[in-house]
Amino acid sequence: MSTSVIVPAAGSGTRLGENRPKAFVDLSGATILSRTLAAVQSSDVGLDRIVVVVPEELIEQTRAELTGSRCAVDVVAGGAERSDSVRAGLARATGEFVLVHDAARPFTPAAVFERVVEALRAGHQAVVPGLPVVDTLKRVDDEEQVLETVDRSVLRAIQTPQGFHADALARAYADAGDVATDDAGLAERAGIAVHVVAGDPDAFKITTPWDLRLARAIAKGWD
Ligand code: CTP
Ligand code: MG
Repeated sequence: MSTSVIVPAAGSGTRLGENRPKAFVDLSGATILSRTLAAVQSSDVGLDRIVVVVPEELIEQTRAELTGSRCAVDVVAGGAERSDSVRAGLARATGEFVLVHDAARPFTPAAVFERVVEALRAGHQAVVPGLPVVDTLKRVDDEEQVLETVDRSVLRAIQTPQGFHADALARAYADAGDVATDDAGLAERAGIAVHVVAGDPDAFKITTPWDLRLARAIAKGWD
């Protein structure tokens, strides 16, 4: 089955608070984006095309850094919300399966990509990697008063890559009226069943300064 991956990398990284878009922050000698793209290409899922979505002013720089990839690479401009960026990438995606993978998850193991694609091949229309939640979860009110402890055994923390049969993702985005924090959220709203496969702690997303410290420590150890 031919497969594309869209890599949204056009976010500003407000919570990280560095002086550049998050995907272009250095991780021990290589940007977060370039490490993510290397991880994407090391997976054995037969990728035909990678569509990287970046801030408009970084398109040329990104193209220049992407020479020598094993498959076709497109670089396109993103939008204000993550869903706008994914939609821009979707316009260039080709093939039966489309994966969407955050640029901000540079250490995602190849096995996670492989599990997602395997479940797509098995017939699931939408597939997400997820992890059991380890912390105790409590619902609170406006004043931080605990209302209840939530049953975590039925909850999963969802990561990327999220995989879709191409027509299912197109339908999810065609129906998308408002913003969701992930692509599967839009699929759910469009009535598409979403299946969870095992994620991996290494697929964590760099969101906060603490995450960046962790990522830099990992990158040093890995080089
Ligand atoms: N993203 C994007 N376009 C946007 C917003 C986000 O392509 N308009 C991408 C980010 O670059 C990132 C992924 O979506 O790879 C996950 O988003 P998030 O972690 O929220 O990144 P940012 O939006 O950059 O961070 P923040 O929300 O802290 O500003
Ligand atoms: Mg964001």
